[in-house]
Amino acid sequence: MESILLRARGVPNSRDLDSYLARGGWEGLKRALAMAPEAVIQEVIDSELRGRGGAGFPTGRKWSFVPKDHPGPKYLICNADESEPGTFKDREIIEYDPQMVLEGIAIAAYAIGAHTAYIYIRGEFFRWARLLEEAIGQARSRGFLGKDILGSGFDLEVWVHRGAGAYICGEETALIESLEGKRGFPRLKPPFPAVVGLFGQPTVVNNVETLACIPHILTRGAKWFASIGRPRNTGPKLFCVSGHVNRPGVYELPLGVSFREIIYEHAGGIRNGNRLKAFFPGGSSAPVLTAQDVDVAADFDACAAAGSMLGSGGIIVMDETVNMVEVGRNLAHFYAHESCGQCTPCREGSDWCLDIFNRLLQGLGHPSDPEQLLRICRYASQGMTICPLGDAFALPISSLVTKFREEFEAAIKRSRPLPPQKLPVMPWTGKDIRFGG
Ligand SMILES: Cc1cc2nc3c(=O)[nH]c(=O)nc-3n(C[C@H](O)[C@H](O)[C@H](O)COP(=O)(O)O)c2cc1C
Repeated sequence: MESILLRARGVPNSRDLDSYLARGGWEGLKRALAMAPEAVIQEVIDSELRGRGGAGFPTGRKWSFVPKDHPGPKYLICNADESEPGTFKDREIIEYDPQMVLEGIAIAAYAIGAHTAYIYIRGEFFRWARLLEEAIGQARSRGFLGKDILGSGFDLEVWVHRGAGAYICGEETALIESLEGKRGFPRLKPPFPAVVGLFGQPTVVNNVETLACIPHILTRGAKWFASIGRPRNTGPKLFCVSGHVNRPGVYELPLGVSFREIIYEHAGGIRNGNRLKAFFPGGSSAPVLTAQDVDVAADFDACAAAGSMLGSGGIIVMDETVNMVEVGRNLAHFYAHESCGQCTPCREGSDWCLDIFNRLLQGLGHPSDPEQLLRICRYASQGMTICPLGDAFALPISSLVTKFREEFEAAIKRSRPLPPQKLPVMPWTGKDIRFGG
């Protein structure tokens, strides 16, 4: 497949507006401005583009939920938080082609009737925030942003807002709270942001990569876009491959290629000639897949059918040397640190899991630990929390316990008995606090 989203990688001065114009840049906006906003939305619906931020929601449908006759302002937010472990594609797009993102933002804003757009970027991405500011300055100076864009009468201002480096602020409603100047606590949905979002107004939140696809859909047409990949899973996708491969990096491929092709052909296979043991197909929040799943297609529906998810497209590869109990500890440590603390099952559950993993690795495991982990994860997932961060730790951790149970049993076998006297007993069960059942 020709390079679409990464076509500027390696082009000298690729970030410059003139370089972007030479690649046919801003033509998509010109086409969009000549169409009615509803026709632009229909074009995106027809392309079957699905969001690249994690959930894979159809982009055109999301835009169509924004009320047309809303009397107040509407907003567009570009989600550049990129906080999912194993994900490093959005910064790659911004590094080489920030104008493409701005053009996607301008088209999306025109389609939904927004005159203000925000790019919410994580605090640590100082470099990419600066690159975006520079790109906005260039686009504004040449009439692609600002007042009366290209003489069309459409106005749009784009602002870059830096977060403070919290994983939860990538979740769209926490992001909106943070943008409003509040602590990044997710909101209960519904109402969805498309109806009640930033400052209580209709708001569309889209990922950087999603918006980067938009100019191409407008210039080359929905049919062309939909011809890449397979039905319901269309277009190019950036796969971030990390872990025990010979050539980690960002690879642009059509949705639906197999994980085998990504790992063995593009990423150069497993390091040191080792065997593949397992991989997270869509960032660390996706349930783990094993070496037997390597022929699964890397797209939304195939990953769901395999019991996992494509998520952000961050493929974390683990070879045979990896201990899955240590992987679990690593996950629990991250999510316990990043849980916003609003919901008890997530706040307490992630920390409790971390505690169990720490004990298991210190030789203080207990025969009930695997079941206890599964139980905690059950209570933190599937709608038990306000946002999906509960699922984000619970589903991968339960997948580790289920698929690699023998490694947990081995850790328990290696354990010495717990010092019994130190654990408080719960009066209603008569058992100690950790294994209370
Ligand atoms: C805990 C959590 C973290 C998230 N982090 C990000 C992120 O860093 N970037 C992103 O684009 N979406 C992230 N999302 C998904 C967003 O909530 C939202 O679905 C997405 O930005 C919508 O864009 P899309 O429709 O273009 O995919 C996260 C979701 C959750 C639950």
